[in-house]
Amino acid sequence: MSDPVRFLMSMGHVLAVMSLYDKGHPARERAVDESYEKLRDLVDGAGERQFTFVDREVVFHREVLRDLKEWEWGPRLAEVGVERVEIDESVTRDDYEEFLRDAYLRFKGESLDTTEARYMRRTGIRYGPILVGIEEAEETDELLGTSATIAYTLQDDIDTIEWMHRQVQDQGDIPMLEAEMVVRSLSTAMHSQEEILLPLLQLKEFDQYTTTHSTNVAVLAMAVAEYIGLQGRDVRVMGVAGLLHDLGKVRIPKEILVKPGAFTDEERRVMQRHPDEGARIILGRDVRLEVPAIVAYEHHIMLNGGGYPSMHYARPTHIASRLVHVCDVYDALCTNRPYRDAWPSEKALALIEENTGDDFDPQFALPFIQLMRQQAIQRVRFANPVVVAA
Ligand SMILES: [Fe+2]
Ligand SMILES: [Fe+2]
Repeated sequence: MSDPVRFLMSMGHVLAVMSLYDKGHPARERAVDESYEKLRDLVDGAGERQFTFVDREVVFHREVLRDLKEWEWGPRLAEVGVERVEIDESVTRDDYEEFLRDAYLRFKGESLDTTEARYMRRTGIRYGPILVGIEEAEETDELLGTSATIAYTLQDDIDTIEWMHRQVQDQGDIPMLEAEMVVRSLSTAMHSQEEILLPLLQLKEFDQYTTTHSTNVAVLAMAVAEYIGLQGRDVRVMGVAGLLHDLGKVRIPKEILVKPGAFTDEERRVMQRHPDEGARIILGRDVRLEVPAIVAYEHHIMLNGGGYPSMHYARPTHIASRLVHVCDVYDALCTNRPYRDAWPSEKALALIEENTGDDFDPQFALPFIQLMRQQAIQRVRFANPVVVAA
């Protein structure tokens, strides 16, 4: 049994014991002592330790703890708003006990504070719903006002996406749970303010294009999906489809991906294989990922059948592909590329408007344009942090 599993099992034991004995009872104190000891084993000499409870899964940093598949406390914690627990070396036994007590009260419906994240750096243990956000860019402080007490960061999500791409490249495997978690956490970030917030990343290094772009397309696709009235699961499917749409690029040589000048015919041919490659990778992984696979295959196909891959016979593409297509073109235009500067948003929207009906499906292009022109939307362009090169 690994340390994190051992610790969580002992924590589950304490939570069970708490329903039997009050504070001060020797059995309860002993259970806390033992569990705290396992916690110390885990954090001593280590940086911050992070657990996530979501969809019946328990995740330690990015590793799914399969031994805890049937562990009842993960889903129970998630249900009462404890989706993530972060613990660092400074954690004291009192902090830990306080956390356990609050979790226990939440189970009983007695805690006053089930929605707010305990994300203050007050103690060595912090917990709450999964949050994302805003750390890097100083300009975001201004946009969010000083009332924002929660330090958000997109860094975890960006790291996860980078890691996902490497995982696909090296192992041929898509870590789906992580992809879903990123999408959930982006969606939480979008709703963390009164107004819808679009946390878009700004490209710093050209070789980070796929990570940056995938994140943005996921955010945009979810925003449009919600705007046209989709909900819950359907919105997240669009998010996952956006996140994975360019996955096939992991199979394209880097020299071509970051080439500063125009492509030769051969290079273009190679580049245009990414939809096909992407669909193959996704389908090879999981049949439940049908929509993301279709989107990976079709996201460069225009409404009138133009674009690539060329179709043997004309047929309408999937609605998700048409939605992602708009978001994809918009983000590509609004990003600095080796061969041109980023376009201002309005210029990109005008181009989309002009080509609606031919290239873009009005069903998605018109709401997209409307949404992006709305004052109520806060578009925050995050400078993306340094990412370990793939
Ligand atoms: Fe693409
Ligand atoms: Fe793309």
